Amino acid sequence: MGCYQSYVAASAAPWDFQPQGSISSAYGTWRSLELHKTHRALGLANSVSTVVSGAIDIAKTRPVQPVTLIRPHAAARAARYFVEKFPGRPMYAVKANPSADLIQILWDNGITHFDTASIAEVRLVKSVAPQAVCCFMHPVKSEEAIAEAYFTHGVRTYSLDSMEELEKIVDATDHAEDLTLCVRLRVSSEHSKLSLASKFGAAPGETKELLFRARQAADALGICFHVGSQAMTPEAYANAMERVRAAIVDAAVTVDVIDVGGGFPSSYPGMEPPPLERYFETIHRAFESLPVSYSSELWCEPGRALCAEYSSLVVRVERRRGDELYINDGAYGALFDAAHIGWRFPVELLREPESRSKDMAFSFYGPTCDDMDHMAGPFYLPADVKAGDYLEIGMLGAYGSAMRTAFNGFGSDETVIVADEPMVSLYGEDMPQVASNVVTL
Ligand SMILES: Cc1ncc(COP(=O)(O)O)c(C=O)c1O
Repeated sequence: MGCYQSYVAASAAPWDFQPQGSISSAYGTWRSLELHKTHRALGLANSVSTVVSGAIDIAKTRPVQPVTLIRPHAAARAARYFVEKFPGRPMYAVKANPSADLIQILWDNGITHFDTASIAEVRLVKSVAPQAVCCFMHPVKSEEAIAEAYFTHGVRTYSLDSMEELEKIVDATDHAEDLTLCVRLRVSSEHSKLSLASKFGAAPGETKELLFRARQAADALGICFHVGSQAMTPEAYANAMERVRAAIVDAAVTVDVIDVGGGFPSSYPGMEPPPLERYFETIHRAFESLPVSYSSELWCEPGRALCAEYSSLVVRVERRRGDELYINDGAYGALFDAAHIGWRFPVELLREPESRSKDMAFSFYGPTCDDMDHMAGPFYLPADVKAGDYLEIGMLGAYGSAMRTAFNGFGSDETVIVADEPMVSLYGEDMPQVASNVVTL
């Protein structure tokens, strides 16, 4: 990651925050919100050697370890999209990819608030962008973490879903009078690919008393929820907002913040969501009709949608056995989701001249000794793929590198910045310009 620092110039200067919508003129207007697929005739060998300064050329250097390709422009574009288009405040959910470089890019492109789940994430954000606002949105925290967040890092916003957590926050902050307390409601994950409906969130019978008590302890009262990750339809948010409405009416409290959480999708094979703008419209409509004060704020906490396009991975095929490819990254590396929840990622063979073989379905084995280190796919690649070939696996910026381990001694930190487009983008063909304080090498 070290080489990345040279990419962002003048990054020490804090982002000059402007009101919503005010940066649109700087970046032009958004046109197509259709899924944008980038067809690249040339493989990585060309893109790396031509656009990346000081980088490797796969064809010549034949890297032994997996190489992460970083696309700062893709994360910057996603950030600007949310800042400009979301009808409220977008915070980045750091857990999706806790890269200091990524946090810096998001900050430089208008993301000023960060959803942190642990004290380590709070420290990380503050070390990168001291003026950033962290919101501690894990509903179960240790007293020590709350106290450090409040007294050392100035964190004022906390989520909770139980009376015990409310008492813990009040005690750990020494009965602070400047807290924003967000009560997390349990909502359905039925429209999402990854459920977040079981572990956290107050059930309908618990919310009245909790909202009432939180109101008494808080300077500002919020309600938050998470519809599950990779929500495939805006209806997920509309339904959750109905639950919010019922909770507000039942508790008869004044609510200052509605936080619709994460769940905004990215695009993967077999999972192509509607344009994000439709999600924003649905959320805006629902928010406008809630019985909240006219000065109340709307927040969201995207993780995946802000960083999925940020990185991909170049792996080498070490062996082929029929339709199974043994590659040098896997379930314990950046492919956790491909292995454990059967997620499919876009793949491309990096070979020149290009293979003329027809595509066929492959599955992957990772490098460790576990049977479990298996990615069922199917991943479609030319039928003549063989040992020694390199593959690019796309859309791994969210929950890919974040989940990496060094199990069995495998794993790699090798990173290269590239300027080509991600394999798929939710952010349209009419790319806004890179911010003026970012220097492209
Ligand atoms: C509280 C909270 N907010 C935001 C997110 C980010 O979700 P996503 O990556 O689906 O946008 C998560 C993910 O687990 C979460 O738990």
